[in-house]
Amino acid sequence: MYETSYHHDLTSDYERLAGFYEAIINNANGIVYDIGAGSGILSTWAAPYANFVYAVEINPNVAKRTESQLKDFKNIKVILGDAKNTLFLQKANLEKADLIICEMLDTALIDEEQVPVLNSVAKNLKACGEIIPNGIINGVEPVEIDVEHICYDEDGSPKNKVLGDLLIYDKIDFKDQIDKNKWIDENIDLMLDLKINKKGTVSGIKITTFTLITQDIICGPTPMLNPPLIIPTNKLKVDEGNSIKLSLSYIMGGGLNSIEASIKRIS
Ligand SMILES: C[S@@+](CC[C@H](N)C(=O)[O-])C[C@H]1O[C@@H](n2cnc3c(N)ncnc32)[C@H](O)[C@@H]1O
Repeated sequence: MYETSYHHDLTSDYERLAGFYEAIINNANGIVYDIGAGSGILSTWAAPYANFVYAVEINPNVAKRTESQLKDFKNIKVILGDAKNTLFLQKANLEKADLIICEMLDTALIDEEQVPVLNSVAKNLKACGEIIPNGIINGVEPVEIDVEHICYDEDGSPKNKVLGDLLIYDKIDFKDQIDKNKWIDENIDLMLDLKINKKGTVSGIKITTFTLITQDIICGPTPMLNPPLIIPTNKLKVDEGNSIKLSLSYIMGGGLNSIEASIKRIS
């Protein structure tokens, strides 16, 4: 496939692809949206099982390539547009979807538009429809770090020493939240207790996101899917057995600048 280097890296991450492949071939039917189609790879897997696939891509250069990649598929239409723009969705006049595939994932869904996009397209999903991925699970750990800016942990770099237990602080089931509330709350604002299991100086937190591609296919961080996010905080010297209070807030889709994190001692 002819792609940008970013899409090349995405389509070379076989662990990520394997999870999506299994989920798509077992769930694609009727009308499918592939939102954030990129290389179009997910659309090509859905097409043999679907009546029709709408592949939506925001980037005009990428969309051109997607179109040329998918030209031999008679039941895929590539649509250039911003899927979080409700006016665009009205104009595109899409039939309601049996399945929405939306792979705009990033760690804790902060820096990509997965949640605002799902909130926009949710009303186009049939009541019995499905969403791939189904959702995410987020965990946080206190860490000792030397960096003073927010960054991703790529194979242990920047160096970070984990000083406490992993706390699972959020589980988002996209379909369930949309069914219950008609939308997913984009604002996260939490006070969390973290247990320290090693002496050191906590100077940051590490957020790890696990993707529920379906309820049965859980994909941990892979090179191109949600590398752990390192966020500096104020510093606290700690001993094994201590607990600290973490105040954590961010906006899903609001970008890394929306993150605020600080810690204080409890015991
Ligand atoms: C992580 S890539 C996934 C590409 C492809 N679906 C895959 O799994 O290989 C996300 C894609 O979503 C597109 N995108 C980002 N925001 C979008 C939006 N608001 N509407 C439509 N496409 C968007 C990006 O340009 C990018 O191609």
